[in-house]
Amino acid sequence: MSNEKGFHMTPEDFRHYGRAVVDWIADYYERIESFPVLSQVQPGQIRGSLPPSPPLHGEAFENILQDMETLILPGVTHWQSPNFFAFFPANASGPAILGELLSAGLGIQGMLWATSPACTELETHVLDWLVDMLDLPSKFKSTGSGGGVIQDSASSASLCALLAARERATDFGSNQHGCDGRLVAYASTQAHSSIEKAVKIAGLGRQNLRLIEVDNRFALRPDALARQIEQDRHAGLIPCFVCATVGTTSSNAIDPLPEIGRICRNAGIWFHVDAAMSGTAALCPEYRYIHAGIGLADSYCFNPHKWMFTNFDCDCFYVADRGSLIKTLSVLPEYLRNKATESGAVIDYRDWHIPLGRRFRSLKLWFVIRYYGIEGLRFHIRRHVELAQDFARWVEESHRFEIAAPAPLNLVCFRHRGGDEINRKLLDRINRSGKLYLTHTTLNDRITLRLCVGQTHTEERHMQRARKTIEEIAAALE
Ligand SMILES: Cc1ncc(COP(=O)(O)O)c(C=O)c1O
Repeated sequence: MSNEKGFHMTPEDFRHYGRAVVDWIADYYERIESFPVLSQVQPGQIRGSLPPSPPLHGEAFENILQDMETLILPGVTHWQSPNFFAFFPANASGPAILGELLSAGLGIQGMLWATSPACTELETHVLDWLVDMLDLPSKFKSTGSGGGVIQDSASSASLCALLAARERATDFGSNQHGCDGRLVAYASTQAHSSIEKAVKIAGLGRQNLRLIEVDNRFALRPDALARQIEQDRHAGLIPCFVCATVGTTSSNAIDPLPEIGRICRNAGIWFHVDAAMSGTAALCPEYRYIHAGIGLADSYCFNPHKWMFTNFDCDCFYVADRGSLIKTLSVLPEYLRNKATESGAVIDYRDWHIPLGRRFRSLKLWFVIRYYGIEGLRFHIRRHVELAQDFARWVEESHRFEIAAPAPLNLVCFRHRGGDEINRKLLDRINRSGKLYLTHTTLNDRITLRLCVGQTHTEERHMQRARKTIEEIAAALE
């Protein structure tokens, strides 16, 4: 911004339009329930409504903001609607949005401690806070052997864990020579697709990912894991990485961390725990059982951008031994050398993830934690679980529907008793109604509907409306 006449936005205009944008966002939240939750546009419709070429001359900000309304909103699926029950949530909150705005306002790039000490030190501090808030092992703290870092996503975090595992298993040789096709990774058949992607990117080869069978609760079977590891060793392969999931995407299954962790420890295998959505539940002492055995993990990640009221993107990734991660990812060209780095007294987060550059993401997390306080966060997490459990009871008592998997927290997997065809139609009609948004999965080869309660403003009245809509549409289909 500058006071000189030119093309830039002046400070006065920024103030003026900044207020208009904040008002627009506040109004959006006030009327969010008036939109169909799932965008109803056809492919190409949004592009078709945009001018074919960019403007030669700058336009009035009022017009740009007006086009948000007319051109963009129709193509928005309203993730922040309290009637959004699809996938896992990507919830947000006032303090998070304002923290994000400040991060954009400062516009810093925190690749090195020296390029903005506050960016690094606030991040370290808040990630240490979260270790206590979730009651994670103290080895994940920066004051011990490990530490935490904010990544863009759980996918990136799991990839970094796998890369560090690969290097530890080969004495940092794969970084030098590449993989020789003998490294093997393990996860359950229910693990998130990001693990398969990580295996492909890390160069292990898709055929060296073993998807281990699950029990009747969709949790990884440790006996099957142990057998597969043994078999692979016998075949001259090198098991290097196991990913357990706390809260699988399809059904929220919780893998048995103590048994898996012991197998990994005995076999010297890197043990990673992906708790992308469900990790947030551990804010509440009564749900901390989900992390039993986490003390055996080499790395752990969860996404405040899913369930902890912190807008996308924000994944917290922890390692027990930061040395292996840094040695895996560190490259130091001359142009990044500086006194602080050489003193060894600072953290340079560029060595803790894939990109070099990084935003000031910890601001929004800090704002959320301070604004809600631990008790405020717990209150809302408990409320979500309670609402989901009420919904599960409603399904259990219904003659039309059945529960398809245990519902330990805020995800309910259910289906119409009438078979796949009616469930497909039901899902389609529910989502076309615009009243709520659900997604599906398959469990035991059967179409299953998923209802996840995690949107910031979901309340009992939204659940009532969801039940009524589901019931009415199902009745009309029968
Ligand atoms: C268990 C699990 N892991 C990883 C991911 C990937 O998350 P992200 O979008 O942060 O990469 C998801 C997404 O829903 C997930 O459910």
